[in-house]
Amino acid sequence: MTEPSATFLLFGATGDLARRMIFPSLYNLLSDGLLPDDFLIIASGRSDMSDEDFRGDVCAALQQFLPADRYEAEVAERFRTMIQYQPVEAGNAAQFAALAERVDGRLERGLSVYLSTPPSLFAPTAQGLADAGLITPRTRIAMEKPIGKDLASSRQVNDGIGALFAEDQIFRVDHYLGKETVQNLLALRFGNVMFEPLWNATAIDHVQITVGETVGLEGRVSYYDGVGALRDMVQNHMLQILSIIAMEPPARMDPTSVRDEKVKALRSLRPMTDETVKTHSVRGQYTPGAVQGQIVTGYADELGKPSDTETFVALKAYVDNWRWQGVPFYLRTGKRMPARQSEIVIQFKPVRHSIFGRDGQNAGGGTGLEPNTLVIRLQPEEYIRLQIMSKRPGLEQQVRLEEVTLDVSLTAAFAGQRRRIAYERLILDLLAGNATLFVRRDEVEAQWTWIDSIIDGWKEANVKPAAYSSGNWGPSSAIALIERDGASWHE
Ligand code: BG6
Repeated sequence: MTEPSATFLLFGATGDLARRMIFPSLYNLLSDGLLPDDFLIIASGRSDMSDEDFRGDVCAALQQFLPADRYEAEVAERFRTMIQYQPVEAGNAAQFAALAERVDGRLERGLSVYLSTPPSLFAPTAQGLADAGLITPRTRIAMEKPIGKDLASSRQVNDGIGALFAEDQIFRVDHYLGKETVQNLLALRFGNVMFEPLWNATAIDHVQITVGETVGLEGRVSYYDGVGALRDMVQNHMLQILSIIAMEPPARMDPTSVRDEKVKALRSLRPMTDETVKTHSVRGQYTPGAVQGQIVTGYADELGKPSDTETFVALKAYVDNWRWQGVPFYLRTGKRMPARQSEIVIQFKPVRHSIFGRDGQNAGGGTGLEPNTLVIRLQPEEYIRLQIMSKRPGLEQQVRLEEVTLDVSLTAAFAGQRRRIAYERLILDLLAGNATLFVRRDEVEAQWTWIDSIIDGWKEANVKPAAYSSGNWGPSSAIALIERDGASWHE
């Protein structure tokens, strides 16, 4: 690894993501002494603004989005002076030249470019950088999602950037990979001896991945309509989680080894067809209802017209390889769910033979033997819970078992450690050139290949979103999707 980049160049600097996440993350890195000396942040957007005006906006954003106890006037002052603002529109060579002047003399110390703009601007922006002489072997470029809306368009985006940057200079952001809890999946699987021997079709009945959000589309309908939950959440965040759960052990924790294993898992996803989408997928769209006691409107009302975009999706996926043969992965995600809750559930199989009598007969005087369940809660709380069987105390002749929970609260175990914004990790890794937590081109393509099979299936089979009242876990068909197999969603 080389010295960290001395300059950070942000496109889309007046946008929401920059205000909410990127500037607060950079501030936190500065506050913790993690930015190089003499670090320069060049912010760029289409609006014409002075350095001073832009700095004022950044400070206002910090005060709005940082926890009150994080904001320190002295650090904020140092942060302000690191920032310069340069208006740039794609295609405007004079503005790119002005940008280059600001970087003058610093290029050899590394430049990290961050594109937080609509993807249609990625390639023109990269071209502008090239024409202004800003691309050297020490320049890196990070891109926010969405990278395309299907495999073909993602290839175009990647070709556009790939024409000017080598793959090891390209950092595709999936902010879920910056979350501590997602990285902790690697620690859980590969830092402990007891899970890995059971992490396969012999011991695991099925896997569930749920990412529930209570929010609707406020203010984002123009982006979201026509995109939908499958492309917005499954194509990236949920498939990244799935790949980490499903992958083989990487040889070591480095960008090539980890991503080689993830892409193999992604390529093993069984494509859907116009037949299987009918039974293995559910689309939903929220209608008016109540979420956590608040009355909310429906998606079509927010949009102002009827729409075929799904705000909820549930899927039954298979990873067709040796390890996972026959193990369903149930995925679901949606807006206007009853709770903001993201978790992974590993449902183990029952014990092979019950010495306590017949299992599964809890109600009729059976022993109460239940299969083990491992619950990994990603957010809002962070915990790992393992449901195990224990003898219920008592003098009955027949041993009665009861589920008890081995409970590791990560929040409690690491109390005193600040919860970091996912972007802090990612920006730090970008500056340092460590791509382990970024998505490689072949991963994006494997993800889109599977997603395209679902979208094509939906088109062929004319699968439309079913209505669900806001405040529910999707349409009733999502419950049927898993209950048909004799399982149920963990709640
Ligand atoms: C984004 C999606 O990528 O992730 C949003 O575009 C979604 O629709 C968000 O709300 C969820 O992220 P988090 O970190 O709040 O779970």
